[in-house]
Amino acid sequence: MVAGRGSCHACTVRLCDVTDLNSPRNIVLGVAGGIAAYKACHLVRNFKEHGDNVRVVPTQSALNFVGAATFEALSGNPVSTSVFEAVEDVQHVAVGQEADAVVIAPATADLIARLAAGRADDLLTATVLVATCPIIVAPAMHTEMWNNPATQDNVKTLRRRGITVMEPAHGRLTGKDTGAGRLPDPEQIAAIARTELAGFHIDHSWAGLKVVISAGGTQEELDPVRYLGNRSSGRQGYALAEVAAHKGADVTIVAGNTAELPVPSGATIRNIVSAQDLEAAMREESRDADIVIMAAAVADYRPANVAESKMKKGKADDALATLEMVENPDILKSLVAAREEGEVPQKCVIVGFAAETGDGDSSALDYAKEKFARKGCDVLMANEVGRGVTFGQENSEGWILRRNEEPQRVEHGSKQVVAAQILAAVNEMIEPGN
Ligand code: CTP
Repeated sequence: MVAGRGSCHACTVRLCDVTDLNSPRNIVLGVAGGIAAYKACHLVRNFKEHGDNVRVVPTQSALNFVGAATFEALSGNPVSTSVFEAVEDVQHVAVGQEADAVVIAPATADLIARLAAGRADDLLTATVLVATCPIIVAPAMHTEMWNNPATQDNVKTLRRRGITVMEPAHGRLTGKDTGAGRLPDPEQIAAIARTELAGFHIDHSWAGLKVVISAGGTQEELDPVRYLGNRSSGRQGYALAEVAAHKGADVTIVAGNTAELPVPSGATIRNIVSAQDLEAAMREESRDADIVIMAAAVADYRPANVAESKMKKGKADDALATLEMVENPDILKSLVAAREEGEVPQKCVIVGFAAETGDGDSSALDYAKEKFARKGCDVLMANEVGRGVTFGQENSEGWILRRNEEPQRVEHGSKQVVAAQILAAVNEMIEPGN
């Protein structure tokens, strides 16, 4: 099935004729000749486990790192590199025509240059020239090669043509070097590919914007052993960071209790523990922010006293049985107030979240509307939680609330798919020329 490339108004959403997230897809996985080629095996697995049909198209140099037999065994499909193999099947055209998505991981500087030049000198480049479906490129190379103006110009060219070039991750490279240029985490590559397959194109229009996102949950200390916490996994905040970073923004995640999650490539993490830490970090990071998103679950109260040694049960003043609590600051409200006072830029778009449950009196959406009015933010993403819904789940859905507009339904999908819809709504509120 071939996805269309029409654009939906001035926002970041590209409408495709593909909406069923669970139907199997034809994925072409291009692999270029870099040491990260071995990670492509994880991607084949990921797509296969999802039920997709995977056709691996390596370059000749990629086969120096991983043999064709490995890709054939993992994908269950033949592997060829040249347009002169299986000529009777007209592979150089057929592979691209039949693809629902082309994912290239890793993409080396050389492959990116050949794609930018529009070459068709092997099966992979020919496939990219033919494909009209989403194309996702995950670069991996040394920092110097990534930063070289030649590579940067080539990347710009690909992005201008509607190809999604992911930001490389930061970290350990081949040999003793460390820096930007690592292949993004294969799970993140697959998640971005699925977001594109669901019809949400991640363009690169946020270059130069600073986005600050709180994610995860706060922990309020009781004594050296105990704390009061919540169930937030941080996944929605991290997915927002992934999509914003791939849109080109400078992204900072202020994170509570998210150590298990892989850092989204292109984002910086600042760890916090308590609501008070979170408020201080958010106030500082928001001073020059263009977009602030409060996705963290913040404890509304904290213990009035933090014991210096472990609290014991059964004592005369059993403080554990009757904890005295004090209210935490409402960080979202304080950011809105700081914007009114000029401490946060006037142009900054502030986004809140509302995790609600309905009851006998009102629906989750009604409670979310009340919260939106109370918080004063510009956008509120509301979803229904409880009974295993949303917290810690892979998928989500809900409504986007904006002033003077009807609630917009957020289509059910992965946290990245939900993130793409939220950021599309935010995109409409960014001042032109920002
Ligand atoms: N929030 C915040 N500071 C707090 C509590 C919440 O900034 N002390 C933010 C959350 O990050 C979220 C939004 O406010 O963006 C709504 O959070 P939620 O926990 O749903 O709302 P509360 O204000 O805590 O209201 P309640 O718990 O009574 O529903």
